[in-house]
Amino acid sequence: MSITNEAELIGMQKASEAVAQTLKEMRNYAQPGMTTKQIDDYGATILSGFGAKSAPLLTYRFPGCTCISVNNEVCHGIPSEKRILKEGDLVNIDVSAELNGFWSDNGGSFVLGKDVHGHQKLINASKEILHKAIYNIKGGVRISDIGHLIETEAKNRGYKVIKNLAGHGIGKSLHEEPSDIANYRDRYNLTRFKKNGVVAIETFISTASTYAETLKDGWTMVGNKGGFVAQHEHTIVVTDGNPIILTEMNGIWN
Ligand code: CO
Ligand code: CO
Repeated sequence: MSITNEAELIGMQKASEAVAQTLKEMRNYAQPGMTTKQIDDYGATILSGFGAKSAPLLTYRFPGCTCISVNNEVCHGIPSEKRILKEGDLVNIDVSAELNGFWSDNGGSFVLGKDVHGHQKLINASKEILHKAIYNIKGGVRISDIGHLIETEAKNRGYKVIKNLAGHGIGKSLHEEPSDIANYRDRYNLTRFKKNGVVAIETFISTASTYAETLKDGWTMVGNKGGFVAQHEHTIVVTDGNPIILTEMNGIWN
């Protein structure tokens, strides 16, 4: 969507506060020994406290309130009472929701407890690249140039990017135009970011894979060549200068 008045900005701020606070609290709540279902249930309580509704549930009938993806899973992991988290797991939580007709989306990968498997370097790369990408976005910038920046920054650190997952427009629904804010230079995409446009920018930084494939459960995505992927996501408003980062309070950069 494009922000055309104060009420729309406030609506987006409120929806963003709900998803950002939920993500932050879920991350703080997660402990080794818990199931991903327990963490999802906790998140569901927080979201409903804001009066917000799970976006993947509303939009896609996803079998959970949030997506929780662990280790080799890239995204869209289904919260499960069989999935018990362990110390050092690479965990990604993605929270998106609707509140009073406004939709916001954010996510982040983190290491659960001690970094016994050495995932922190990948996570830091993803966070830093998201930061750099967002602070290079303003009205008139080509979407493909931000994709190029993300891919170049990943390569410089010895990583790859997932090519078939992307950021997206958002606001009046979960996924809007521009629909493909890729993590690489898509030379066929001539679209530019527009001032006042609301977009969700997300990284998919990878140690080995370049494509994500859906498992037989119909949801969970894993890399085509294994390895690990870190994702960090903010919903932002594009301006003539630095974007307004609506989900900043999720603390993924802290
Ligand atoms: Co998204
Ligand atoms: Co998301």
